[in-house]
Formats: sequence, structure tokens, C-alpha cells
Amino acid sequence: MKILSVVGARPQFVKLAPIHKAAQAAGVEHVIVHTGQHYDPMLSDVFFEDLGIGAPDVHLGVGSGSHGVQTGAMLAALDAVFDEHRPDWVLVYGDTNSTVAAALSAVKMHIPVAHLEAGLRSFNRRMPEEHNRVMTDHAADLLLAPTQVAVDHLNDEGLADRTVLVGDVMTDVLHQVRSEVADTPSILLDELGLATGGFYLATIHRAENTDDADRLTEITAALGRLDKPVVLLAHPRVVAKAAAHGIPLTSGSLLSHTPLAYPDLIAAVLASGGVVTDSGGLQKEAFLLRVPCTTVRSETEWVETVSLGWNVLANNAEEIATAVTRARPADTSDTPYGDGHAAERVVQVLQDGA
Ligand code: UD1
Repeated sequence: MKILSVVGARPQFVKLAPIHKAAQAAGVEHVIVHTGQHYDPMLSDVFFEDLGIGAPDVHLGVGSGSHGVQTGAMLAALDAVFDEHRPDWVLVYGDTNSTVAAALSAVKMHIPVAHLEAGLRSFNRRMPEEHNRVMTDHAADLLLAPTQVAVDHLNDEGLADRTVLVGDVMTDVLHQVRSEVADTPSILLDELGLATGGFYLATIHRAENTDDADRLTEITAALGRLDKPVVLLAHPRVVAKAAAHGIPLTSGSLLSHTPLAYPDLIAAVLASGGVVTDSGGLQKEAFLLRVPCTTVRSETEWVETVSLGWNVLANNAEEIATAVTRARPADTSDTPYGDGHAAERVVQVLQDGA
């Protein structure tokens, strides 16, 4: 059996790692195609190296562009790749432009396509990720859902007969990396002279938070007024938009820092006194590490983190200040994201359906 994974953006490399490992363990041929959507070494290469994935088999090198240009370049390049490899399954991950391009290309070539992390919904039609998810779920042959809530969404959309609940593969990686970094202090402590628990860790990169100058000013100003240093791990998008709008990313409590490799990120979350983010993955990682999270959005796909009290949605400066300084939530032993063996289940389901 041959699985061909298409990835392109940072969170997809994290999800790819446990799938690659599980495919190898099951003796399944696994071809990795990197679209090139993310090309900065700190957004791409370090994940392949640190998470033991090895180099991609194919690199399309599409780079950045508007949604249409970027997605179109991927579509144009993928036909030949799928034709050459003729996999039993094309596996697509999450909700990026790389996801929807690969799903569409595979469907048109009559190659079975499975969507990992299917069924997540924000119900916010202004998010590019929401279009990508909905279109990918409705195009794919097999929907691998991370949570019961995701299964319910797919059921509501008439897709129940293609859906399997497998759990969340990011939880698989997190369990492994957490034990690897357990005794390693975060590199941020020495580098920035910070104390454990004495700072907040932030990431802001979504279009709806970065592209409008007033919105980005409100968020950075709110972070700059917090009661502890805030280390912003600045994605290239926020760096570019802040420079274009003339907004400082180091001001008051706010300190800008380059993005971190995955093990360093996990160590930094563990060392922090709280996370402030608009990333989906980081909300969940904070929950799994039991670090309080504040999400700078009006909705989240990972609703379990909110209902269990570990994540609070905060969509303006006042809400951010209140949420970040709230009391630590009550502990929970709930495991809405599975048991850390989702990737093995994914490979088994693909083998059963090949
Ligand atoms: C993409 C995903 C988003 C995901 C995020 C993770 C889509 C629509 N969005 O957003 O869901 O949460 O990845 O990081 O696919 N850039 C660089 N170097 C890079 C990559 C990007 O400088 O290696 C800059 C470019 O200016 C680019 C901008 O960042 O135009 C945005 O990159 P893009 O890949 O379009 O989307 P992300 O914001 O990274």
C-alpha cells in the first residue's frame, strides 16, 4: 500500500511526523510532497529535522502569493506528481491552501483522498481556513475526525458515512516531545533573562488579526500593557504586516522573538505563565500541557479547551487583559483529543480501506 501525504505549512509538518512514523512501523510506503507554501527554514526545515521525518520526496517550491495564485500553482504542479506516484491514498492535512489544492487535484484524478483533521468548523466564513476545510471535507472520500464534536459537524453536513473518529495526531507528537524536553529548560529563559512562570508566550499570525492596521495595533498594544513580559514568537506574516503598517512589535511588555523549533516551543509553553494566541495548534498544546490559554479570536474550532476552562476567547484589548490575568482553572482529567495513538489508527483505517 502506498500513501502520498501533501503538506506545505508549519502545522502540517507537525501532523505529518506521527503519520510518517506509523506508516513506517506498519511497513506502508509513504511518499511526502511539500508544496513549498512555507519555505523559511524556521517554519519548515527544522520540523523535518527535529521530528525525524527526513527530507520530502518531492518539493513543489510554490512559495507565497494571493490565495488564488498560490492554490493555483499547487494545483498545476500536483497532477504530474500524483500521476507519477499513483498512490492508494492521497492524505491531506488540516485547513491550509495546500490542503484544498491537494484534495481537489486528487479527486479530479480519481485517486482516493483522505482528510486528516476533518470536521473542524469555526462557522466564520471570513476565514480562509474555513473555506479550505469545508471544501476539502466535501471533496474527500474519507474523513478522519480528531474529536466527537468534529464527527457531529460532519454528520450535520450529511457526511457521516465517510467519517471515522481517529483522535488528534498533534496529541501523539506532543506526548512524545513533552517527555523529551521534560528536563530541558526553555532557551528563552537564559536568552531573555526570564524566570519560569514569569512571562507570557504569544503568537499572532491570522489574516483577520494581522492584515488590518487598527486590529494589529489594538492587539499589540494590549499585549504591551500586560503585567509580565510577553514573548511574541513572530511569524513572517505578522513581521511583514507590522513593518508595512509601522507598528512596533517590541514595546512595553511586548518582546518580539523569531519562531521556535517544535521542541523549543513546547519547552517555552511549559516555562510560561500563560499563552496568548490565535493559532489552533497552540490552543490545544497549552491545554494538553495544562497552561492557561487566551485565544485572540471570537470563536475556536477546539471548543473542548474552552468548555474545560483552560482557554478563554478574548477579542478586544479589555478582554485580553482580563483573560490573561485570570485565576488558574480547575484541573481536569478529560482527554477530548484522544490517547496519543491517533496516527496508528489513521494508517490502519487507510490500510483497511485501500
Ligand atoms: C498558513 C495557513 C494557516 C496556518 C498557518 C500556519 C492558509 C490559508 N493559511 O497561514 O491556516 O495557520 O499557515 O503558520 O493556508 N511567509 C514567509 N515565509 C514563509 C511563509 C510565509 O515570509 O515561509 C510570509 C509571506 O509574506 C506570506 C505570508 O507570510 O505572504 C503568509 O503566508 P501564507 O502561507 O500565505 O499563509 P500563513 O499566514 O502562513
